Parts: sequence; C-alpha cells; structure tokens
Amino acid sequence: MTLPIGSLSNKRVLLGITGGIAAYKSADLLRRLQTAGAEVRVVMTQAATEFITPLTFQALSGHPVHLDLLDTAAEAAMGHIELARWADVILIAPATADFIARLVHGEAGDLLSTLCLARKGPLAIAPAMNQAMWSNAATQHNITALQERDITIFDPAAGYQACGDVGEGRMEEPEQLVALTSALFGSTLLAGQKVVITAGPTQEALDPVRYLSNHSSGKMGYALAEAAAEAGAETVLISGPVALAPPSRVRTIAVTSAQEMLDASLQEVSDATLFIAAAAVADYRPTTVANQKIKKSAGAVSLTLEKTTDIVATVAGLENRPFTVGFAAETENLVVHARDKLERKQLDLVIANDVSDTRIGFGSDNNRVVLVTSDGEQELPEMRKTQLARELILYICTRFALN
Ligand code: PMT
Repeated sequence: MTLPIGSLSNKRVLLGITGGIAAYKSADLLRRLQTAGAEVRVVMTQAATEFITPLTFQALSGHPVHLDLLDTAAEAAMGHIELARWADVILIAPATADFIARLVHGEAGDLLSTLCLARKGPLAIAPAMNQAMWSNAATQHNITALQERDITIFDPAAGYQACGDVGEGRMEEPEQLVALTSALFGSTLLAGQKVVITAGPTQEALDPVRYLSNHSSGKMGYALAEAAAEAGAETVLISGPVALAPPSRVRTIAVTSAQEMLDASLQEVSDATLFIAAAAVADYRPTTVANQKIKKSAGAVSLTLEKTTDIVATVAGLENRPFTVGFAAETENLVVHARDKLERKQLDLVIANDVSDTRIGFGSDNNRVVLVTSDGEQELPEMRKTQLARELILYICTRFALN
C-alpha cells in the first residue's frame, strides 16, 4: 500500500547517497522528490560513486554534486555549513550499515557525515543492506540509538536482495520514501481532528501486591499515537502500565485498570474523530480485591472473576461515536474471529494480528496484520510497528475520508 501524503513544495531536500547497490534507485528518488515540489541537492560518499556516477545526479538535479569536505571550489560556491543550513531535511538513501554506525558515533570524516552533525532540520535515513546485516544486533542497536536522537528511520522492506538472499533489508521504494519525507513536515491529513488511542495492558488487582495482566508492551499503541500526531491530530494516548517513554506531541493519560481505561476513554471520545483500541484490556477482574496481602498459609486460593466492560464496544455504541477501530489478538482463524468482533462490537474496522507468532506478537518490534471491514479484507506484509502505524493512519484517513 502506497499512499501519497503531504507535499514537498518549497522544501529543500539534501539527498545523501552512500555506497550500496540501492544507490541506483536514488536517481528515481531524486526525480520523484522534484515532482513532489522539492528542490534537491545531492551529496555522495566516495563509496557511492563506485555504484553510480555523480554526473547522473548532476544532470537530474541541475546542480553540481557535492563530494568532498575539503574541496575549495565547492566550498567557495556553498560551504558545507551553509549547505547544512540550506536543507529543510537531509534524506540519506541508501544508508549503509557502515554509514549508520558512523552516524551513531558522530563521526565527521567526510562531507555527508559532517553535514549530518551540522544540520538544523530533520534527518531521515533509508537503510539498505543484506538481511543478515540488518538483523544483526549491532545494526539494530545503532538504529535504536539513532531513533533516540530523533533521527527518523524509513525502515527497509522485505524481499529479494541483490546478493540473492531473501529478507528485510531492501531500501524502501522511492515512491514510498517521498511520501514518508513529506510526512516529516507534518501532514495535514488529521489536522484539526482529535484521535484517542488506548495502548498497553491493564492490571487488575488481586490484593495490594498482586494483579492479573498480560504481555502487551504498548509498542503498537504508542506507534499509532506517534503516527496520528505526525499526521497533525490532537492525539490522546490512554496507556496502561508500560516501560515506554510518553511520545512527544501526544497527551498521555496513565491508567492501571480496565475500569480506569474505560473512564478515561469515555471522558475523551465525545469530541474525537477517531478512536483506536490497541490496548490489551483484561477481559476479567477479581470480583473482590483483598485489603491485605493474601497469605501463602491460606493454601490453595480460588479466584472468582467477573467480566470487565468492553471499552471499544461501549465507545462504538455511543450516539455520537467516533470512527471506531479495534484490534483482534488471535491465535487461530484470524479473519473469522476478527469479523466476528467487527460485527459483535459494531466496529468500523478491525486490525487482526496473530499473537501466537512471537516474531510479531506482544512485545515485538514488528507486526503483520489483516484489515477487516464490512466489505472485505486486506493483508499487509510484516513490517516494523512504527511503519505499520503510519500506514494504518494513512489507510484509515484516505479509505474512510476522515479528514
Ligand atoms: O502492545 P504490544 O506489545 O505492541 O502488542 C500489540 C497488541 C498485540 C497488544 C495489539 O496489536 C493488539 O492486538 N491489541 C488488542 C489486544 C486485545 O485485547 O485483543 P482482543 O481480541 O482480546 O480484543 C478485541 C478488541 O477489544 C481490542 O481492540 C481491545 O482493545 C478491545 N477490548 C477488549 C476487552 C475490553 N474489556 N475492552 C476493549 O476495548
């Protein structure tokens, strides 16, 4: 699914190209950036010039390609600090594993890495490498370090690779990179709209020290909140107890139990356009909560549980309901169970995921989902939850004309 968003009119894009075979796609990327309205200047590393010539990019961009840090002629035309200030965004595509590692360490041994240090605006990278190099712990550690520094990662896609391997590591397609770059400037897709998202697990107390809960990490819901904020929405995240930092530009309400999540949701949805229930809400809670810690000496303990209120179904049942989206966490018959939830809870869309698969379920960075609506199903490939969240926001806004 590739949906164009935003526009690059009047935007200055510094396109950095490093030495990988995906550099051949950068010529197409340059053209598409220009078509989206951007003014583009190109910086290549020495290794990149082994794969594609600077002349190609000079001809396409209509400007000399910047290659060296210590090039007096280039410095006289536009110094490297000036070039870094000129750019509204630096987009490095492809970004090799080596360049990513150098970025993590703040190295400034060549022009491109120096520009990254001197930049004022956003920096986005589109990694491209062999699938084993991408999944290597060192690379993943580097990616996390860059994300913590607010550097945007346009995750690689999965598929056949130039080396013959199959897996995740291919540079994202140019068309998609242009859409993602546009989104960096704050798309107006959800401008003026309020979006409420639940995330994480709930905890249902048994006594003052024990509770019933589940393995939700909150990653999926938090990624959705970031994507909604990125699309310009006033975003409220109602979160159960998780170990994640609250996203910026998002109002986060911390709750513990299903009842608290229900109360906060009802408080927030009355003026919302969109409600997404990504939380793994406890379906049952103990009928009574012991005032004191239950003693082991009591021997075997029997618990009586009662059902919690279904939050997403309650929101869907409101007279002035927002567009209401639920998830379906299943371990078998994904679509059948998701469709049952769609109908039973009267939802507009159900996002079904298989939580029996540890690579994509609770706590993982990736997910693979099927979108289930009253008129059909659409399967999305496995991808990072951050990427998936952006695609889901795009899908919801464009397919259901929410803006
Ligand atoms: O948090 P992560 O580690 O990133 O994992 C993501 C996830 C697996 C938790 C997420 O992708 C997901 O599937 N969330 C929904 C989990 C769930 O409880 O699914 P369910 O099939 O049991 O519930 C269906 C829907 O009803 C869900 O939208 C749920 O939020 C909602 N629900 C359920 C019970 C309840 N009392 N109130 C609800 O609103």
